[in-house]
Amino acid sequence: MKNFLLVPSILSANFCNLGQEIQLILQAGCDLIHFDVMDNHYVPNFTMGPMILRSIQDNGIQVFFDVHLMASPVDAILSLFSNLNIKFITIHPETTNHLDKTIRLIKQMGYGAGVALNPSTPLTCLDYIMEELDLILVMAVNPGFGGQCFLTHIFKKIRHVRRLINQSNKSILLSVDGGINIFNVADIIKAGADVVVVGSSIFKSSDYVHTIQNFKNAVL
Ligand code: DX5
Ligand code: ZN
Repeated sequence: MKNFLLVPSILSANFCNLGQEIQLILQAGCDLIHFDVMDNHYVPNFTMGPMILRSIQDNGIQVFFDVHLMASPVDAILSLFSNLNIKFITIHPETTNHLDKTIRLIKQMGYGAGVALNPSTPLTCLDYIMEELDLILVMAVNPGFGGQCFLTHIFKKIRHVRRLINQSNKSILLSVDGGINIFNVADIIKAGADVVVVGSSIFKSSDYVHTIQNFKNAVL
């Protein structure tokens, strides 16, 4: 089985002990963390923002973030994420009138740029922007909440995006987010994912390090 990256989503972490929760994830060998920003406008939930990332950084926790912005209009909040330990910022095409321009703004900030595809978002939105992308995030749930069920019809979409990436000859990461558990992770990797984002399956378990190891073993 090919190599893949497991990226824990702290949406389901215990926010009362966020620093310690992140340290446990680092101990398990994951050094990239998915950070879900929700605005109660584009999605019906309200989560966290850049001040939390800055606080983690200022307290010396050495970790990088995979920021998933579910906020509209997105351009207005992008600059708040400047100069942070961020590897990728991923946005939804529905949150900007000028997708190409927003992707360029992210890259000018020095971050990798990603586009997230909701279950109903057609792949045609990738036409003409593929060249600029570092990551494509295939949503296997409708965004807004952790702990939802993986929509199995999304396997077809993952395979389709894999083919598009292969044809592009670009090193774009294919990430999958939502409803991933120990039972479906191997099939998701087999369908073509490079990255899996996992929230509740890790943070609702009693031993994160052990659970992350189980995920890795499930894909062997
Ligand atoms: C959903 C978020 C996900 C979420 C995944 O809108 O984008 O990143 O945290 O959580 P689980 O793994 O519980 O579906
Ligand atoms: Zn997410």
